[in-house]
This record gives sequence, structure tokens and C-alpha cells, in this order.
Amino acid sequence: MTALPALELVSAELAARAARDPHRPAFHFTAPAGWLNDPNGLTQRDGEYHLFYQFNPDAPVHHRIHWGHAVSTDLVHWRDLPIALTPSAGPDEDGCWSGVLVYDGEVPTIVYSGRHGDRELPCVATGSADLVEWTKEPANPVIAAPPAGVDVTAFRDHCVWREGDVWRQLIGSGIRGQGGTAFLYESPDLRAWTYVGPLLVGDSSDGEPGAPDWTGTMWECVDMFRIGDGDAAGPDILVFSAWDDGVTHHPLYWSGRYEGDRFTPSALHRLDLGGRYFYAPQSMRDESGRRLLFGWLQEGRPDSAAVEAGWSGVMSLPRVVTAAPDGSIRQSPAPEVDALRAELLLDKAVVLDEEPEHITAGNQLDIELRLVLADGGAATIALRATDDGAEQTLLRLRRTGRTAELSLDRSRASLDPAVDTDARAGSVPVGADGAIDLRILIDHSALEVFAGGVPLTARVYPTRRDALGVWLSGDAARADVRAWAMAGVGRQQVPGA
Ligand code: FRU
Repeated sequence: MTALPALELVSAELAARAARDPHRPAFHFTAPAGWLNDPNGLTQRDGEYHLFYQFNPDAPVHHRIHWGHAVSTDLVHWRDLPIALTPSAGPDEDGCWSGVLVYDGEVPTIVYSGRHGDRELPCVATGSADLVEWTKEPANPVIAAPPAGVDVTAFRDHCVWREGDVWRQLIGSGIRGQGGTAFLYESPDLRAWTYVGPLLVGDSSDGEPGAPDWTGTMWECVDMFRIGDGDAAGPDILVFSAWDDGVTHHPLYWSGRYEGDRFTPSALHRLDLGGRYFYAPQSMRDESGRRLLFGWLQEGRPDSAAVEAGWSGVMSLPRVVTAAPDGSIRQSPAPEVDALRAELLLDKAVVLDEEPEHITAGNQLDIELRLVLADGGAATIALRATDDGAEQTLLRLRRTGRTAELSLDRSRASLDPAVDTDARAGSVPVGADGAIDLRILIDHSALEVFAGGVPLTARVYPTRRDALGVWLSGDAARADVRAWAMAGVGRQQVPGA
């Protein structure tokens, strides 16, 4: 039986409900309705980008996860393709969990985690040349159990690459009593795998579970890559999402060196200052050599509100990852996002003072700000704000030397007492001239901020229709601001798919 595209799989009632929700983004990728979480299987093939994603068409809850599939030539307008993987009797009967896509010679091959009962095991499926039809390997699971003799907290998610004559893969896990880890395996054919050992083991006793860089007891969605080639290569980057006992904490990365069977870390970094609002990211190298990254913007409203809304989960905008001189990475929205700028609303220089200045309004906005702060200077940007200030989301920047503290204050973001209003904060780089390049993308409930290449992602749910204003204030600060109204991307189906 040919699989259906996502929109045909969700009920019309659910899709209609999702379409009516004022919090639903218009230019971010979302499932047509139902549940979405991690990006999976990212690849570019014959010029087209493929985005697979964790998807439950039946309801906006995490259950019986399928692989949704969408394709794009420009990274922003996506067309639904038939569902790639559907749970079926056997090792993935309770869900086709996260994984990656590689090319085994000419054969597109997905390596994913099949869920059965309460455990996940590595499975393989092969695809047609156009990546539309997928056939599960009869011999699944291809690894029967986690490494013998190791007490693991969990065992799932994959990073697979070709190295010389062999395949290598990392599987996310954790060693009970020690910390999160990525187990390294090797195979001649993507089916028979030999366990090599842990690539690196974290220390879950280091730091408090509440700390924004706690490494957790399990590493979800491990992803290792090197930015650039040869002499121009940056450090190796090992990304993971810190998880503990069912709680999704935040994405982190180690910079360091992958050599032989080990990863030698030099530093641990936060991948996104928004923590769980940019979770389980996966990256890919595209045909032009760029390192692109997508992540899952989790909800910040109660499960019951998502059920009522008919949908849950937003895919981030595509990000380009580059190496920074200090060994960390920088992220920025892919330039393709600029194509959605429908109307220039504002282009001016503002001298900031205590009195907030209304600069523009909207719930689909792209704002570029070059903010120049004196040492000790500060600026505040109010977003999704009502004129009376009853609802407003505040972004603050305070400079100290060559860094600034970026913080997100959501204490008044919504009059709905049920939504998450926790603060977020972290350090961002400041240029030698005291300038910080800020980019703020507002798409209804989705908010992605980039300050000097450091992202802070969050969700906000203002209740009032007039919560649209953008205001600037500050001391010892000035700004060059441009703002655009952003077009929605609609939803396209493959005719007859
Ligand atoms: C991360 C994650 C993965 C898992 C998938 C299940 O959000 O929990 O570890 O494979 O989602 O949907």
C-alpha cells in the first residue's frame, strides 16, 4: 500500500482545528496537525532538501511515531511527501524513532530506532532513488541489544558516516551511575555491527540537574561533524540533547577532536540559550558544503492546550553553522529565509533612552538590529507587546566588555497563567566596536533570536490580539533597525502522491 502524505493522514477535523489556532506559526515548518518532534534523515538530493520528522498523525501527543517527510528546493517552502516510515508489527511496532539517512553506494538507507514496548533498537530501511518509498529490513533490529555488561539508561538515536572502508555509527545512551554517552559501532554493510566502545562519557554528578549546561544521564540525538575541510577545518563538534528520566533538558555540544575511537573534548557549550525550546537538533552538509541545522521547538503550553489546538511542535528555521575563532560555533538563519521578507516595515537609526519607542508591530516579523552598547550599557526590546504593557515579551542585553548577557523575560508574555514563563539567559559575544548583530524572528508563538551568532529560541503565547508591538528602550545604546513583515509559506501537497 502506498503511504499517504501527512495532510491526508490527519483527520480533517484535526487539520481544521490546527489551522484556526492563532499560535500556529506561518513561516516555520509544522505538521499539518497532530504531533511533531525531532528533525530526522536530513539530506539534499539532486538539489532538493529532504526533511523527515517525528510525527503522530492521530493526535497532538507523542505516541506511535511515524516518519513524516517533506521536500523543498529553497529550505522554506516545503511540500508533503508520503509518510516514510509507519510503525508495523515487529521491532518498531510502537514507533519509528529518530535516525538518519545515508547513501549505501546508490541505495538511500535510513538508520533509525525502532521502539517496541519500552525499549528502542537500531533498525534499517532502504529507499527508492527518489526517497519516497521505504522498505524495512527483514532482519531488523540490526543490533539486538545495548553493549553487553553495561547498565544503560537508554539506547537510541543515530549518527552514521562512512570512514575509509567501513561505516561507523554513534548511538546515544547513558551509563547508569556515570553519565550520558555515545556508543561507537563499526560495520562493513550497515547491518552487521561491532561494538567499539564509548566515544566519550559525560559525568552526570558534575553540576546540578537544574544548570543550563548539565550533561544529563542520557544523550539523545548525538550528532558529530567537522565544519570546513583540510587546513580550514574547525574543531570537531559533538552535539547531544541532555535527557534525564523522561525530562528533555537542553541541547549542548562538545568542541574537541575526534581521533581513532575517541573524542577528546576541549570545551562544553550550550547550543541554544533557549534550552529545551531548541531540542534534538540534527545537522547535514548540503551540496554546497554548508552545515545546516534544524531543531524541534517544543511547546511551552500544557499538553491539554496542545490537544485542544490540534497540533504540537514546530521545526526551527534552517540554520547555517560556522566555526567561531574561539572554537565554538555560530548559528544564523539560512539566507534562504530572507526570501520570505514580504514588506520592509522599517529602516532607521534609533537612539535608545528610558522611554520605550514603538518601532513596528506584527506577529510575523523579521527584525535585524545592529545594537551598539557602551560598556555597561543596556537595551530592552519588547516583543508581542500590547500598548498598555499587560502582555509583553522582553529581550534584554547588557554589555560588559566583549560579552553581553542576553536574557529573555517572559513573566508578562501571556495573561494565560498555564503557559511557561521561565526566564532564559546567557552570554553572547560583542564586537570590538561594542556592536551586537541581533536577528529576531517572530512567527506567532515561535521566537528565534540570534545575538552575535548565539541563538535563543523560545515559545510565547500572548492571549490578546493586539499583542503585536515592538518597542525599544535602553541606556548608552543606539541601534540601526530594519524590520520586515514575513510571508507565510502555506502548505503544498505533491499532486497524486
Ligand atoms: C528526542 C527523542 C529521541 C527519540 C525521539 C522519539 O526528542 O526522544 O531520543 O528517538 O525523540 O520521538
